[in-house]
Amino acid sequence: MQAEAIKQAADYIKEKLTSTPKIGLILGSGLGVLADEITETTVVPYGDIPGFPVSTVSGHKGQLVIGKLEGQDVIAMQGRFHFYEGYPMELVTLPVRVMKALGVQSLIVTNAAGGINESFEPGDLMLITDHINNMGTNPLIGPNDEELGARFPDMSSVYSKELLGYAREVAARIGLGVKEGVYVGNTGPSYETGAEVRMLRVWGGDAVGMSTVPEVIVASHAKMEVLGISCISNMAAGILDQPLTHDEVMETTGQVREDFLRFVKEIVKQLPIK
Ligand code: 6GU
Repeated sequence: MQAEAIKQAADYIKEKLTSTPKIGLILGSGLGVLADEITETTVVPYGDIPGFPVSTVSGHKGQLVIGKLEGQDVIAMQGRFHFYEGYPMELVTLPVRVMKALGVQSLIVTNAAGGINESFEPGDLMLITDHINNMGTNPLIGPNDEELGARFPDMSSVYSKELLGYAREVAARIGLGVKEGVYVGNTGPSYETGAEVRMLRVWGGDAVGMSTVPEVIVASHAKMEVLGISCISNMAAGILDQPLTHDEVMETTGQVREDFLRFVKEIVKQLPIK
């Protein structure tokens, strides 16, 4: 069933393409502007793709942008599907399966996240070194299709050491100070309480958001190389004495946009592809 859904969506997209995308990009809240830098584009609205849901959150556009970025063949999701929107995990992660079916080997996943680590500041970029799945479910629950991946996939090196090392080099080369840390995936849509943030800190979390973990679990199951980047849009609850708003998230991602664009473009330029 799942295999059929993947094939239908991939076939629909493939028909429109003249080249094979090798790098996948998932662009988070306020970060979709990166797709505007892609040239020679084929744009496919999610609503046109068989089996794809339509994204509902403001700040998310809802289309695939396929073309060239820094000379590389890329496919970008401008807007993603969140679990909190009510989509089943199978749909939240369908685009990753489809990217894999289209030939993507390396996936760059981005998001806006709240800082848990008190040494972080809004506007920081964080390379994701590992994650904590705190969503209370797992996208791989259900029958396992051995063609797609293993029943019990290893999660000990989900975020590619090679890509992490490469991203560190790029950051140093362009003079960009980047943080590193563990991303906690919560379901949302409510933000955390102060007590929850203190708990997540004890657990070893550095940043918290409402996405990324499902897509990365599926990408890892599919044996894709993953690089994750969080834009710290605000501090999580209880650190600063102020309430959290989605507007603040959008405002900060707007401010770091230039650093983010420069960093990801520079990463894409010479990304080692397996
Ligand atoms: Cl503070 N929490 C969560 N769960 N997601 C976020 C966030 C915080 N800031 C941006 N996205």
